Amino acid sequence: MSVESFVRDVPKAELHLHIEGTLEPELMFELSGRNEVSLPYPDVDAVRRAYVFDNLQSFLDIYYAGCAVLVTEQDFYDLTSAYLRLAAGQGVRHAEIFFDPQTHTERGVSFETVVTGIHRALEDGRASVGISSRLIMCFLRHLSAEAAMETLEQAGPFVSWISAVGLDSSESGNPPSKFEAVYRQAREMGLLAVAHAGEEGPPSYIWEALDLLGVRRIDHGVRCLEDDRLVARLASEQVPLTVCPLSNVKLRVFPSLREHNLPLLLDRGLLVTINSDDPPYFGGYVEENFRGVVETFGLGVGDVAQLARNSFVASFLDDSAKARHLATIDAALAAEG
Ligand code: ADE
Ligand code: ZN
Repeated sequence: MSVESFVRDVPKAELHLHIEGTLEPELMFELSGRNEVSLPYPDVDAVRRAYVFDNLQSFLDIYYAGCAVLVTEQDFYDLTSAYLRLAAGQGVRHAEIFFDPQTHTERGVSFETVVTGIHRALEDGRASVGISSRLIMCFLRHLSAEAAMETLEQAGPFVSWISAVGLDSSESGNPPSKFEAVYRQAREMGLLAVAHAGEEGPPSYIWEALDLLGVRRIDHGVRCLEDDRLVARLASEQVPLTVCPLSNVKLRVFPSLREHNLPLLLDRGLLVTINSDDPPYFGGYVEENFRGVVETFGLGVGDVAQLARNSFVASFLDDSAKARHLATIDAALAAEG
């Protein structure tokens, strides 16, 4: 089997995926018509042409504007179902999905509408396309800690549908320490914790995420290499980094894929996973991210199998589910000879 087919077919877990960031321009226009919400673009091609970014903030401005078409529970259901169908065709067998309730509650869409639509699609997706899932509720870090705490309170009645809390949006100037109390409360509610850190922000934000927020994984984390002591900690504790190569290039964290630090992260013994972040905005889903690094760095099937293994090891699945997926990956690799 070619490495390309192996990339597509090998079981993978996607651990860094913003469900609002999977909104394809075609669905954006369909929902804009359905909900009579106007868009600042004449057509789908114009939307795609607008996806050129200078940095994280220039992307976020366009991403939040696109979210305005998401209004009803059915919209969130359709958005999530579309992602699951596509991901299933790329070998994704488990997905741990971020959602940003504040992006919607700030516009008058209720927390219940958002979470019910996404949850229903995840439940149906388990049966229809065979993807297991977890839901991670993110706080928008450019908003206040009080607003995050209110969001956590709104989550109370739905907490059994939510596995973890996360932290996203504008990183620079919004350190994890701002959310220490919110995360403490979330952990007391039985939720696990992750956070975006070290995408644009400094290594100190990764330390804070670990020590003040009690995170199980770091989302992105690519700037960790600027701090040797931090790398030693991440490696010895095998704290997963959910790396998103195409996102990092589109948001100019690295000038090109060739200059991405993925090989260095792997050389340092870090538990790296490959993910897609906001696929239509950044030019690809998980398969395209794998293909990008395979082609750029000349990876073989053994490397791809290792990255696929890492994705399950780093997931919130229980040990028996992890073992099942790992055995499938090992069998696929063995079949390669
Ligand atoms: N929200 C959606 N994608 C994001 C990213 N890559 N970083 C921070 N916030 C985000
Ligand atoms: Zn992200």
